[in-house]
Amino acid sequence: MSLGSRPKPPPPGPAAAGIDRMTLKTFTIAIDGPAAAGKGTLSRRIAEQYGFHHLDTGLTYRATAKALLDAGLPFDDEAVAEKIAREVELAGLDRDMLSKHEIGEAASKIAVMPPVRRALVEAQRRFAAKTPGTVLDGRDIGTVVCPDAPVKLYVTASPEVRARRRYDEILGKGGTADFDAIFEDVKRRDERDMGRADSPLKPADDAHLLDTSEMSIEAAFQAAKSIIDAALSRNA
Ligand code: DC
Repeated sequence: MSLGSRPKPPPPGPAAAGIDRMTLKTFTIAIDGPAAAGKGTLSRRIAEQYGFHHLDTGLTYRATAKALLDAGLPFDDEAVAEKIAREVELAGLDRDMLSKHEIGEAASKIAVMPPVRRALVEAQRRFAAKTPGTVLDGRDIGTVVCPDAPVKLYVTASPEVRARRRYDEILGKGGTADFDAIFEDVKRRDERDMGRADSPLKPADDAHLLDTSEMSIEAAFQAAKSIIDAALSRNA
């Protein structure tokens, strides 16, 4: 289930695999990948399928950045940013309210600060412990936040495909966009996410790679489901 939504009826996934949910303490699915690779849609679909709680961890960085922007606080003071990060309420996060480009840019600046990351990772780990299971998506879930997660997926797609998806999405909502500018933005964000010293974006050694460049969301979901069902059976 996504944050803020009501508990869903028993999940079809584990039940279909013949697993008694009551035997599961908790079960975490870690999903990482670059921006616009489709991991958000995939994560929500997986959480719904299994009746698990879902956290889009990018929103925790965005909420911290928005709070700093709203309060007119500086972006170069790690102690101030950490204090704000510790006050972020996970239950109130909403992507529509945090989707502005300006907030994304500010989020990527504070995401390089180790004290901010520590504060948010602590909150994300508390979320990951919820029962009966959790789906967390972000950049460092399988490597840092939940290194013991029984399922790790690394969802990616070529920069061209990701830029094209973002471009089509904006046009689909009636907006206007410049493909070349979006393409450059995607490449810049990849560099920043993969190049930072603290918790750079990279697949965990034991992550399953899902390249969605030439895959529909349905095909990606079915591939993920096979991996998750197999892991749930092993954990039963
Ligand atoms: O996925 P997003 O665009 O909402 O993420 C916003 C910023 O937060 C982006 O710069 C990457 C960063 N981030 C991170 O460093 N670690 C995460 N687990 C999630 C997001």
